[in-house]
Amino acid sequence: VLTANFRPAEQSDCRWLWQLREHPSVAMQSLNPTPIPYQQHCRWYRQLMRDEHRHLDIFVDAATGNKLGFIRAEPYEHGQILSWAVEPNFQGQGIGTLMLRAWCEGARTTLWAQIKSGNAASEAVAARVGFIKVEEQADVDVWRKDLMHK
Ligand SMILES: CC(C)(COP(=O)(O)OP(=O)(O)OC[C@H]1O[C@@H](n2cnc3c(N)ncnc32)[C@H](O)[C@@H]1OP(=O)(O)O)[C@@H](O)C(=O)NCCC(=O)NCCS
Repeated sequence: VLTANFRPAEQSDCRWLWQLREHPSVAMQSLNPTPIPYQQHCRWYRQLMRDEHRHLDIFVDAATGNKLGFIRAEPYEHGQILSWAVEPNFQGQGIGTLMLRAWCEGARTTLWAQIKSGNAASEAVAARVGFIKVEEQADVDVWRKDLMHK
């Protein structure tokens, strides 16, 4: 059984995130699939680290210390919009579901995501943790997860 936890990203995670972002399996599902030069990524990353309104959380395997994936959250509408990815070596093993579910359990606002139509793995994971598709655009759909009222 996998035990994994979130920790806030640090400056030293900059290159790992770039390499993950540039992997074809991840880049092709990005809203901007064109390659991003490393220096440009680093500038963006430094801004991200300084921005108290945006959060980057890394999902780390407690046993091995391996970085398994990330969730990024930014203010959006009356809540937050998320992006996520799982390390290519670890995709398709249920980790995306585990990661998104764990993150959403701590959420206190409405959550949003933009998912390219045809990104079946991401749609499956989003639907499983309670997101619903609320809007279909040209090649990207808007998904929303409302806070559960207990
Ligand atoms: C999307 C992503 C985070 C999902 O994480 P994951 O760990 O691979 O997902 P899981 O193993 O938890 O679940 C994937 C589920 O999607 C479905 N799935 C996966 N690949 C699929 C495919 N090609 N076609 C149809 N369904 C697929 C399956 O139902 C699978 O669940 P199951 O086999 O356990 O029943 C990961 O694949 C990823 O990082 N992809 C690239 C980046 C990306 O798309 N990010 C999201 C942008 S919105």
